[in-house]
Amino acid sequence: MSFAFGIGIGSQNNQGEWLEVFYQQPMITPETELIDAVETVLNYQGGNQAIQATAEQLTQLATALRQIGATEQASLAERAAGSKRPVVVTVLQTDGTASSTPEVYLKLHLISHRQVKPHGLKLDGIFGLLPNLAWTNEGAIDLNELPDRQLKARLEGRTLEVKSVDKFPQMTDYVVPSGVRIADTARVRLGAYVGEGTTVMHEGFINFNAGTEGTSMVEGRISAGVMVGKGSDLGGGCSTMGTLSGGGNMVISVGENCLIGANAGIGIPLGDRCTVESGLYVTAGTKVALLDGNNELVEVIKARDLAGKPDLLFRRNSQSGAVECKTNQSAIELNEELHANN
Ligand SMILES: CC(C)(COP(=O)(O)OP(=O)(O)OC[C@H]1O[C@@H](n2cnc3c(N)ncnc32)[C@H](O)[C@@H]1OP(=O)(O)O)[C@@H](O)C(=O)NCCC(=O)NCCS
Repeated sequence: MSFAFGIGIGSQNNQGEWLEVFYQQPMITPETELIDAVETVLNYQGGNQAIQATAEQLTQLATALRQIGATEQASLAERAAGSKRPVVVTVLQTDGTASSTPEVYLKLHLISHRQVKPHGLKLDGIFGLLPNLAWTNEGAIDLNELPDRQLKARLEGRTLEVKSVDKFPQMTDYVVPSGVRIADTARVRLGAYVGEGTTVMHEGFINFNAGTEGTSMVEGRISAGVMVGKGSDLGGGCSTMGTLSGGGNMVISVGENCLIGANAGIGIPLGDRCTVESGLYVTAGTKVALLDGNNELVEVIKARDLAGKPDLLFRRNSQSGAVECKTNQSAIELNEELHANN
């Protein structure tokens, strides 16, 4: 059985190189018969391949797919046969390191379509395969071709609006997953996993290979690689530390029913039911004073030693400046470690 499949409508530059691809129905673990149909019509010979398909091949593919009962993919192939833009049929036999732009786009789609969770795919080396593009009201444009397209638009009495210059497009131009609210769509990149019931407010941000499991209020930044558990809130302007730069090697995550206060931040994974006081940035090396139920000092440890532990409240003592950690009183279960000395 193959790993993934998708029929994509893409954009190419004047050299015929792929810029981006839209897969309306990306598939994980497609049936063997479906891949057999691709093999017959498009001469697919195994492995991970992105094959540019002609209108004639797409019509044949539609017929073959209909014969095996893959009706939705068949009607997509049929409609793609009439595309004014180039069409690619991408088959990933395995989740190997991607070797083309269409392959990377298929992987990013699988996450945003909630078919694979963040960290569920091999994404190393993708930056080199994602061209930095102008994302405009007329689609993706190669930066070398942008000045000419801008002039052309002006001469024809139009304005070409460049909405962003980036390697990743905004997710919602490719898919809007069910049950979400996203106030400023530019702030969620393709490859984000936005769980059912999540609201992303204007200040919120979700990078690729990151996101929320379910209901969440996101008013802060979810960096690449960070996953937020159900019921957790990220307060206005808060930060979750990414692992792409700065030497951090701990994968940051947020458990269920956590609250990261406004302008706070975390450099350690949080367990379930944790709260970080507004304005406090807890980095892995932060020395933390553990307090018992009577606010007496138990011991001083590094925040990384509390990684993943549930029911914690982090705050900066407003009088001493020391970072303190107590049992989160709103928590359902008590944290044993904090009560060991009680
Ligand atoms: C950390 C936080 C959760 C504590 O809230 P709380 O549990 O309701 O605690 P309270 O404010 O009732 O304070 C309880 C006690 O601790 C004390 N206290 C609270 N924060 C303190 C601090 N940083 N330093 C010293 N004492 C502190 C209070 O003075 C109070 O003392 P008391 O028992 O003598 O009256 C809260 O301050 C916070 O930062 N919430 C985040 C909210 C947020 O940002 N939401 C997102 C919006 S976008």
